Amino acid sequence: MCGITGYIGYREAYPIIINGLKRLEYRGYDSAGVMLYDGNNINLSKTKGKVSHLQENVKHEISDKGTLGIGHTRWATHGIPNDVNSHPHVSQSGNLVIVHNGIIENYDAIKQELISRGYTFHSDTDTEVLINLIEEIKGQEKVKLGKAVQIALNQVIGAYAIAVFDKTKPDEIVVARLGSPIAIGVGKDLKEFFIASDASPFIEYTKDAVYLEDEELAIIKMGREVKVRKINDDSFVDLKIQELQMNLEQIEKGGYEHFMLKEIYEQPRAITDTFRGRLLANEGIIKISGLENNMKKFLNAERIIIVACGTSWHAGLVAEYTFEEFARIPVEVEYASEFRYRNPVITEKDVVIAISQSGETADTLAAIKLARSKGAFVFGVCNVVGSSIARENDSGAYTHAGPEIGVASTKAFTTQITLLTLIALRLARAKGTMTSADFRLYLQEMELIPNKVEQLLKIDDHIKAIAKKYLLSTNCLYLGRGYNFPVALEGALKLKEISYIHAEGYPAAEMKHGPIALIDDRMPVIVIATSKGHYEKVVSNIQEIKSRSGKIIAVVTEGDTTVRDLADHVIEIPETEEALSPLLTTIPLQLLSYHIAVMRGCNVDQPRNLAKSVTVE
Ligand code: F6R
Repeated sequence: MCGITGYIGYREAYPIIINGLKRLEYRGYDSAGVMLYDGNNINLSKTKGKVSHLQENVKHEISDKGTLGIGHTRWATHGIPNDVNSHPHVSQSGNLVIVHNGIIENYDAIKQELISRGYTFHSDTDTEVLINLIEEIKGQEKVKLGKAVQIALNQVIGAYAIAVFDKTKPDEIVVARLGSPIAIGVGKDLKEFFIASDASPFIEYTKDAVYLEDEELAIIKMGREVKVRKINDDSFVDLKIQELQMNLEQIEKGGYEHFMLKEIYEQPRAITDTFRGRLLANEGIIKISGLENNMKKFLNAERIIIVACGTSWHAGLVAEYTFEEFARIPVEVEYASEFRYRNPVITEKDVVIAISQSGETADTLAAIKLARSKGAFVFGVCNVVGSSIARENDSGAYTHAGPEIGVASTKAFTTQITLLTLIALRLARAKGTMTSADFRLYLQEMELIPNKVEQLLKIDDHIKAIAKKYLLSTNCLYLGRGYNFPVALEGALKLKEISYIHAEGYPAAEMKHGPIALIDDRMPVIVIATSKGHYEKVVSNIQEIKSRSGKIIAVVTEGDTTVRDLADHVIEIPETEEALSPLLTTIPLQLLSYHIAVMRGCNVDQPRNLAKSVTVE
């Protein structure tokens, strides 16, 4: 959650920090702040609201000069979003300044102790407690900033990525991480350094980045190599500089009105990138190196447990159908947040697949650690290269969707399904649970999916016209069966999170067990009724909705006539195998949510109360 950015070097820090904060705003956007050091003074501006709001304030409030600064965009945990609770926070003496992403769980006990020593607090945040703890240690122990930060971090319980500045030592910034990401961009000849929650704020300045690992602290000092130490035992860590693969174009809107729309339209490319080099349809081969190297683990697995949150959990549900049908391996799909706390039975014969776009989701990360501690083999399906989850697994494979910046997941979902389907198919061949003719058929069908998605994107105007009719709805029901039940859940999640319309997804047959009571002539019901997926049963469900005057928006296979006669609106998807249909049925549901949200005047890229990367539990 929260985005951190910082700069120390020879350029003006403010434009770098403010542009960086705009790029990190997907991580949290309820308040923002910046501290600039002009060689003599600390200039601080912070405010409730977006980074653009901060920019306006800076114009009137402070000098924007200085070649050192730190900035923050917040997703509130402790204390409501207001000006005072916004970061940066300053210590009692006014010398130390901090920005923080994460939660200090034992902050209250520390706060009471500091109050008894004469400290006063202005905000409700755990962060203000941390910076005063650092100040107290620095004074009491007579140590430098780096050491004081280290001692303080050994006393706190929680998660953090922090950047700390000390006015009495103005040529350095100290950063540290536990559970929340932090990257350091290293400029040419060590003349400048960049700090950020991900590398996006500095990719136009340097391609050399150091990603801190958990429990590491780095002292960034002008003209000197970055020094990294372990927080708990003070040992030095070898500096690993990575070359960034990301480019500027990937993180810009490229002419689209919103990142979400851009990312919906990127799906043909993203799906292709996910199977590129892995799916060799002509040769009848699937090759995924992380899987090949651990094939025995998968073949001997008595069960696969999938852990994930939100949209990634929905992708896991689709995978449950494919793994069981193709590879005949029992699968359980778990919310990572429930799994980690319910003392689950896990053995060495389990393979755990953790799915995460960001690779930073706190609950998923904790679920992985738990599974590994019980001896299970953990395989990660992540999008962000080098993310915490990607590093924490025994093995894994990337989805290659490219940066996803819109808070609502779109291309992450379809690329997760693509990769998980390839894995299921590969296992099916290895286990002999699928004939080679069927295997080849799926490979060929999969290869056609990007073109079919492209085809679907061409009916965007038709979907927009449907959206216009339902933009004032207050409730919405999504129904699907089999492979398309998770798509119904995902469709409902997409609508509720960006348009704030209450929406529920159900397996179509469950409707009779309760939700049918909701149906009247004001209730839009989106039904996925593909030709190969329990079609007749879904048609019966549609009849039941019609008899109760519900408004039916049906997603059908092209050429369908039966549902066309019953539904108020029909969206056709190209024909494909049922197991691959989620890759197509999802697209119109994403577009429908997008258009409804835009027409309702919602900020689709930054929906209220949400953040892209949920690094707190
Ligand atoms: C919804 C959405 C969230 C994420 C969830 C998990 O559109 O984006 O539900 O899917 O927070 O995030 P990752 O996949 O990064 O672990």
